[in-house]
Amino acid sequence: MGNWYHYRTVEAAELKQRPEGEKVRLLGWIASKREHGGKIFLTLRDRSGYVQVVADKSLCDPAVFEQVSDISKESSVAVEGLVSQDPRAPRGAEVHVTDVAVVAKSEPWPITLSALKSPGFLYDMRHLTVRGTKTRATMKIRSELLNGAHRFFEENGYVWIQTPTFITSASEGGATLFQVEYFGDKAYLTQSAQLYEEAAICAFEKVYVIQPSFRSEKSRTRKHLTEFWHIEAEVAFATHDDIMEIEESLVHTMISAVTENCQGELSELQATRVESPELPFPRIPYDEALSIIEKKGFKIEWGDDFGAREEKAVSEEFEDPFFVTKYPVSARPFYQMPDPEDARLTLSSDMFAPRGFGEITSGGQRIHEYDMLVKRLKEEGLDPKDYQWYVELRRFGMPPHSGFGLGLERTVRWILGLSHIRGAAMFPRTPDRIYP
Ligand code: 4AD
Ligand code: MG
Repeated sequence: MGNWYHYRTVEAAELKQRPEGEKVRLLGWIASKREHGGKIFLTLRDRSGYVQVVADKSLCDPAVFEQVSDISKESSVAVEGLVSQDPRAPRGAEVHVTDVAVVAKSEPWPITLSALKSPGFLYDMRHLTVRGTKTRATMKIRSELLNGAHRFFEENGYVWIQTPTFITSASEGGATLFQVEYFGDKAYLTQSAQLYEEAAICAFEKVYVIQPSFRSEKSRTRKHLTEFWHIEAEVAFATHDDIMEIEESLVHTMISAVTENCQGELSELQATRVESPELPFPRIPYDEALSIIEKKGFKIEWGDDFGAREEKAVSEEFEDPFFVTKYPVSARPFYQMPDPEDARLTLSSDMFAPRGFGEITSGGQRIHEYDMLVKRLKEEGLDPKDYQWYVELRRFGMPPHSGFGLGLERTVRWILGLSHIRGAAMFPRTPDRIYP
């Protein structure tokens, strides 16, 4: 057999539509194997899903039966067999083996039942455990969320741009910058594409970015990664209200992509209650969020940003996503436009996921005026020279504009109700983990 790819005539998910007795050929991996009453039951996993493959000692060629009984779990195999439409089979149809070949043998599978009790070990073995039913379903849903995001931006006239990973100054505050050595100079890993997006809107009006951001967050919470995928957009002439509408429509489209295309994966994860939240999402001002937090007994000063604990407290009060708006100037980065009606506040907001999950986006209107931006940089103790190109944009026709960033893994965590954000990444990066 030269080219295995062309060996296949059918994928697991198509078998239910195939006629009884048809001879088919499958390619995939052996997800499980058990013997019972002179029969061997294999679960074959391929791109499309799972199917039961049966070798019956009394019907099978003895040499083929022997081969099947030698196959080890997670070997990749080619199977030829006859379709049997059996409603008692785990997925409706099964295949009765007539021939089999091992494409690549697997050594004894190290993920034993007792290993399943050790999350640390399972993450050490993530290069293998990605094949597990739950991880596979989670990553498929993550992929579909990204497809939904691309679709939203494409249908609404955005240009997809790419911005650098190596940068020279912080957008979200210096405390969380990763420093790297750059030919004898200092550079950092990007925290957000926003500042570059702002340059690009003068070319395209509407741009978006989907790429990793890096945060040297020492806080070992269930919602912080050191490397996460950031979906960001920036829109010329848009107000803060416009940007909230864009954010909620984006999230709606992303979740619709999942409910339309991932019902199998959702039921695999027992997350069948997932549905696109109704629009518009409620908006509550910072002050109201603060009073919820205080009522629950947490002490926090007016003007402070919310930490993980405060976000949890507020979002527990909601069953659907919502926005917290009108953040104080002191809780936002230098670029955020002050509220013209109240200089203590900004035209900004965070989208919160409900039921304790907390912040999944931050966004708002940016300062587009030169003098105001320089003043705000200085107030934050930053040197405008370090932001020269960014400040200079304000001298070359920069209109009012707004934008936001959404954390992909936080969104996955919320939708699937994961206890820890690391489950939302294929190869998570946290302060404690940079392997595999
Ligand atoms: O709130 P952040 O820091 O906002 C920005 O970076 C803006 N410049 C975005 C923009 O306006 N273009 O990050 C945005 C989102 C957060 O709401 C959160 O969902 C996610 O990025 N995020 C993280 N996700 C996982 N781990 C971390 N350490 C994260 N830090 C931020
Ligand atoms: Mg934020």
